[in-house]
Amino acid sequence: MGGPAPLRRRHGLVAAPSTRSRADAGGVPAHLGRRLRRGRGCDDAAVSYPETVVGALARYERWDPARRTDAFTELCADPEVMRFLGGPMRRMVAAEVSERIADHWATFGFGLWAVVEAAGGRVAGFTGACLAAWHPQFAEAVEVGWRLARWSWGRGFATEGARLALEPAFGELRVAELLAFVHPDNHRSRAVVERLGMPRTGATVDPRLRHRLDIFTLPAPAPHARPVAP
Ligand SMILES: CC(C)(COP(=O)(O)OP(=O)(O)OC[C@H]1O[C@@H](n2cnc3c(N)ncnc32)[C@H](O)[C@@H]1OP(=O)(O)O)[C@@H](O)C(=O)NCCC(=O)NCCS
Repeated sequence: MGGPAPLRRRHGLVAAPSTRSRADAGGVPAHLGRRLRRGRGCDDAAVSYPETVVGALARYERWDPARRTDAFTELCADPEVMRFLGGPMRRMVAAEVSERIADHWATFGFGLWAVVEAAGGRVAGFTGACLAAWHPQFAEAVEVGWRLARWSWGRGFATEGARLALEPAFGELRVAELLAFVHPDNHRSRAVVERLGMPRTGATVDPRLRHRLDIFTLPAPAPHARPVAP
């Protein structure tokens, strides 16, 4: 289970082998898992997780509520966007979520990126990696997630951004696996995990909405498959 523990400790991210059984972990094989635990004295500046990544389709930028909350509250008010996420969000609630995304960055040194379309510069939503803190059972696991305004669906942003998060998540954060949680009827989200090559490994219940969520897991590439550091 080696890994660069000193790096993570410096940033308040401590990797520890999962001690949960497969059943406890909602279907995630314990032998694949390391969990990230929140420590004290976080210093996000020391984590070298990329704050901006430029893809072919969009730019992916560290979440900044001052620049993103307006677009975010708008997309969270759309019943179709929020269909599997508890329904449309009131403006104040969405603004709080926007602040929490930024707090995650400040605390852990990584988090969800804002998706800014390459042509036009509109903010489409978020994608990327973050702790699954909303689920008590997986609060220390890292998930990939996405939420985009409807005008931007069908343009590849969610998949491109999530794919760009894989390398820093496995490389910088050294997580042993990435999870995704998807409502069984959310076919667009399911298609994203399939494009990322994440197989279904189990299911859990959404702690707030009480519906089933399928769990998809991408294990870290084998060490020999990682690019050799210069
Ligand atoms: C889930 C969600 C992010 C998926 O959005 P999406 O646009 O379908 O997914 P992607 O951004 O990966 O785009 C893939 C689509 O872009 C198309 N595309 C167009 N140009 C592309 C390009 N250059 N590269 C890749 N894909 C491209 C793909 O063909 C695919 O289209 P298709 O679905 O018609 O086959 C979006 O539906 C959403 O925000 N839903 C509401 C929130 C939500 O449910 N979140 C998930 C909670 S688990």
